[in-house]
Amino acid sequence: MARVDPHSYFDDAQPRTKSWRLRLRADFERKVLRGEATLLFAAAAKGTLDLDTKGLTVERVVAEGGAPVPFELGPEEPILGRRLRLDLPAGTRSATVFYETSPASAGLQWLSPEQTEGKRLPFLFSQCQAIHARGVLPCQDSAVARVSYEAEVDLPEGLTAVMSAGPAGDAPAGTGRRAFKFSMPQPIPSYLFALAVGELEGRDLSHRCRVWAEPATIAAAAWEFADTESMIARAEALFGPYDWDRYDMLVLPPSFPYGGMENPRMTFLTPTLLAGDRSLVDVVAHELAHSWTGNLVSNATAEHFWLNEGFTVWAERRILKALRGEEAAALSWGIGQRELEEALERFRDKPELTRLRTHLTGVDPDDAFSVVPYEKGARFVVALERAAGEAEFDRFVKSYMKRFRFQSVTTEQFCAFVESTFPGLLATVDAPAWLDRPGLPANAPRFVSARLEELTALARSWKTGPGLDPAASKWRPDEILIFLQQLPRELGPEECARLDAALKLTGRGNFEILTAWLCLAAANGYEPAFEPARRMLTRVGRMKYVRPLYQALGKTAAGRAVAREVFSQAAPTYHALTRRAAESVMSQYPA
Ligand code: BES
Ligand code: ZN
Repeated sequence: MARVDPHSYFDDAQPRTKSWRLRLRADFERKVLRGEATLLFAAAAKGTLDLDTKGLTVERVVAEGGAPVPFELGPEEPILGRRLRLDLPAGTRSATVFYETSPASAGLQWLSPEQTEGKRLPFLFSQCQAIHARGVLPCQDSAVARVSYEAEVDLPEGLTAVMSAGPAGDAPAGTGRRAFKFSMPQPIPSYLFALAVGELEGRDLSHRCRVWAEPATIAAAAWEFADTESMIARAEALFGPYDWDRYDMLVLPPSFPYGGMENPRMTFLTPTLLAGDRSLVDVVAHELAHSWTGNLVSNATAEHFWLNEGFTVWAERRILKALRGEEAAALSWGIGQRELEEALERFRDKPELTRLRTHLTGVDPDDAFSVVPYEKGARFVVALERAAGEAEFDRFVKSYMKRFRFQSVTTEQFCAFVESTFPGLLATVDAPAWLDRPGLPANAPRFVSARLEELTALARSWKTGPGLDPAASKWRPDEILIFLQQLPRELGPEECARLDAALKLTGRGNFEILTAWLCLAAANGYEPAFEPARRMLTRVGRMKYVRPLYQALGKTAAGRAVAREVFSQAAPTYHALTRRAAESVMSQYPA
């Protein structure tokens, strides 16, 4: 027995899946995917093979040629789901599982037409990271077990499917249905498997980049992300060749629970990025950067998540620095610093989750999630970069990408590679303090920016000072965000009104600013903010916004009443993860 991932029944000593062949039929009436998943093995296999499943109904399993394969579904474990154990006859080259998903699968959200922009057709999307691929298909759901795949998805006519794969044509499939084919030749971890179905339109942004969205959103999306090709070119210069052929993006309906998800060849994005001024495209830079840090070289398990996210935040800000200059990058580091401090404070009672190298046996990765691996991780990378020298470190990153291309690595493997390249460097930056101790080491890099200092000083003295000059409402979005972050947390109603008037906050299309403002106002019981907060919580499912807003409303009795009412109304339209996050916040409300 060699289980290597605390969140998977994947066993190193068992047969390896090399690729999947999937045939799935989307049933929008019953909200299930039904079909067959064929697992093709690297070599003729025999004996026990353990797969992960969650909420799947398994009908039968057959080997190539149709011979039945004995199988057994284990008991439901709260985090892991159910182990599907196959007993493969000697010489088995492939096993096909006939199965169906559950309408409640946390890996899928089925939207009614009313929940889309167009209101005509339903929508379906997957979100597999960290461990929800097992709710979509039976698989070795660990990043250690990389697979390529081919898929055929059968849909009602009028709908279009996209996947984390290249398109391989579509054709009629019986009356009123159409089948879309896909091929993903590069081996990926299961958490990067992705599927979305809806009324979709594509718009080319460059020879290798297209954005997909609902027809009502496509023009806005194409405008917002028009500069993506320049980001790809910058990223290639920094990290090496783009190895995934195309870089396409999909703008999802507003219930998508994340800002972005780096599904290879098809980044998924929240529509809250469509601010109308391109001010939130750093999320695209981030998801694009994952094409190297995360997708080409992946974390082996969720315990090494910082290798994905810390590296990617660092990479995102290197792209930003190259495109928009040192000052813009410093403001991003400044915003991140504040978010990091808040997270460290929030995890005061669970300091072990503020290490970079975590230990998650018995812990749901969705519960361990925070900005710590992002912002602390990125600062560790900068500490290494500064100690090695930027040019030397850039060379190192390229060779790290080359050495571990299409592999999944642990923190220990990463450290060994650093040590072999730069003997003594880990000791110089006190790597054990970063990796294995909670909180932020005293030697953490600082990012200096005159503008950051200025905004911080203005915010801290704002209550007693002469007020902002009228030009403040024209500050750049990041400047406003920093100002809001640094304001005193306690504000009276007059102060809230004055702030809103000076910075024109309530009407903002930039959701970072709008949420920061609504949270500040709601936490102070400022009633004019309740209606916009209600609108936001009804429309948007991105957890980064929903969670803190429910939290802020919880600070006053009037706010709690608003929160409870809006939740009872909006809960059925939330993604399972968003619903769980909101419930968990509200369960902490005073009675
Ligand atoms: N891979 C993450 C999203 C994720 C993490 C999904 C863990 C499920 C489990 C993605 O790359 C990400 O980090 N998105 C951020 C945006 C980014 C700019 C920090 C988000 O969604 O806010
Ligand atoms: Zn990320």
